[in-house]
Formats: sequence, C-alpha cells, structure tokens
Amino acid sequence: MHFRAKNIRINRLELLDSTSHVVPVESRVDSVRAQSRRWRREGHKVALIPTMGALHAGHLSLIEQARAKGADRVIVSIFVNPTQFGKDEDLDRYPQDLEGDLEMLRSVDVDLLFAPSVDTVYPSGCQTTVTVEHLPQHLCGLSRPGHFDGVATVVSILFHTTEPDLAVFGEKDFQQLQVIRQMVRDQHMPTRIVSAPIVREADGLAMSSRNAHLSGQDRVAACSLHRALTEAQAMVAKGERDVSILTRQMRSTCVRVGGRIDYASIVDPTKLSDLIHVNAPARALLAVYFGSTRLIDNAPIGNIESL
Ligand code: PAJ
Repeated sequence: MHFRAKNIRINRLELLDSTSHVVPVESRVDSVRAQSRRWRREGHKVALIPTMGALHAGHLSLIEQARAKGADRVIVSIFVNPTQFGKDEDLDRYPQDLEGDLEMLRSVDVDLLFAPSVDTVYPSGCQTTVTVEHLPQHLCGLSRPGHFDGVATVVSILFHTTEPDLAVFGEKDFQQLQVIRQMVRDQHMPTRIVSAPIVREADGLAMSSRNAHLSGQDRVAACSLHRALTEAQAMVAKGERDVSILTRQMRSTCVRVGGRIDYASIVDPTKLSDLIHVNAPARALLAVYFGSTRLIDNAPIGNIESL
C-alpha cells in the first residue's frame, strides 16, 4: 500500500503553515527499502528516525539533527513495538494517532513516513531476537526485563529494512542510546548513530508521549525530575562527589512531591554501572512514578568544567 498524506483527514490545522507538504507513507518492507536504495544510488545520504508515534517537539528535533548531520533524505518510522512492552506495561494505552502524526510531519522536513503493521515487522513464525548482553542489566533493564531485547530487535529490523546511513536517537532514552550504539558496534552495522539532546517543556519536564497520562497535580509534581537533576549537578559543581549523598538528594526531591522512585542513579556514561564517587564525567538518571505513569529523565553530571 502506498498512500499520501493528502488523503488523510486533517485534525490539527493549526500546525499547518506555508511549509506544509505531502509526506509519502510506506507500510511495506520492499517499497521502503527500494526507495532508500534509489536515494543512495543517486548519491543522497539517508537518515532514519525510529519512533513509536504520538509525535512531539522532541521527536521533531531528531529530524533537525539528522539534517544538521548531513542527511539529504529523512525517513521517520512510526511503529508501536509490542515486543518492548512487558505484560503489565502500557502497550494498550500507548497513544496512537497516525493522522495527527502525519499532520505534524507535513510541517517539517521529512521525505518519507514508514508505518508498518505488526504483521509486517514480525511475520508469523519469526523467531529471532537481538540481545545486547550487559548494558540492559542496569537501570530500566532491571524493572523492565526483556524491554531492551524488544528495542534492539526492532531497531535491527528497521535498519535492515531502511538501510540508513545514519540514525538519530534522543538522549532522553539514554540507556536505549547506549544499547543501540553497542548493537551497531557488535554487529558491524554500517549505520552511524547520532544522538540529540533532550527537549523540555518550559518548566523543565522532558517531553514524552507519556506526559499525556499525567493528571494536573502529577503534571506539576513531575517537574521534580528535572529539578532533582539540576540540584545534583549544582552539588557536584560545588564539590560534592559522594554518589550516595547525591542520589539521596535526588530521591527526596521527587518523593517530597509524591513521586514513587523506581531508581535514582549516577553511573558511568558508557558502561552504565553504578559509581561510588563522581570523579569523571558521569550520568545521573531517574525513573519515577507519578500516579501510575512512569517517567524517566537524565543529565550529564561532573563534566570537565564543573570538576
Ligand atoms: P519513542 O519513545 O517514540 O522515541 C523515539 C525517539 O525520540 C527516541 O530516540 C527518543 O529518545 C526520542 N525522544 C523522545 N522524547 C524526546 C525528548 N523529549 N527530547 C529528545 N528526544 C526525545 O524510543 C522509542 O520510541 C522506541 O524505543 C524506538 C527506538 C522507536 C524502538 O521502538
């Protein structure tokens, strides 16, 4: 099937402006691969931005990053990947709005939307999983067993399908970024992985499709994630090196406003293993529930300037 955005009902007219254009949509593996190969034969650099849809400004920033890193053609994929959700997780309530997403993509510089079905990505009888061994044994991997197998598997499939020269991932999902980098290294994949900084709301909350689930009170409380991270950065800048003191502070900032901590950690930024002291650039990461919504955020800590 090959259909065009102009056939889709328009809901978000306010997002349309003079730059809005038709975005071709592909749902088949052979078609998207043929298009990507055509572009590359013509000498174009092709970028892939993998997403699960419910697009927001954070996703759109990845497109800009792809262009900044030299992409001539940008493919965005939207696929809510069932294999990365645990049994008790929010697959069923994950927001899905392909029409709204298409409207957003019409206002930015995208060449193709790849939106395959579950049966296309995982044809019946498929039995291959990509497992990155050690990095998932930290942080989110501990509370979401199997999650990074699902992520690595689907990203590998998307890479084989679209054969991109580069792919952009947000630092918002810091562990995911490191898992993908490791997979690409281990598998000698020819795709360059580019990272993009976290895009935040005006009050500091990292943009996320899951923010839509937050009630008024929880939405206010969720700002504590960013507050906790900036407090920890400030403490390190003033000389605090003890990770247990820093993470205690991070926890209490979130708990005070009603957050329930999954983890508050300061880790080696490439191995993701816990640190005892911040003596080199590290990463502070948080996963906290507000109501039933689990949010994650992270920030660099102990960078050269602040040491
Ligand atoms: P999704 O949550 O839709 O995120 C798609 C990409 O957008 C990821 O690289 C994520 O890090 C990035 N992103 C999300 N919020 C961001 C923000 N506020 N600022 C910057 N970047 C942000 O991550 C996934 O989907 C999936 O796991 C996927 C990689 C598509 C595999 O299914």
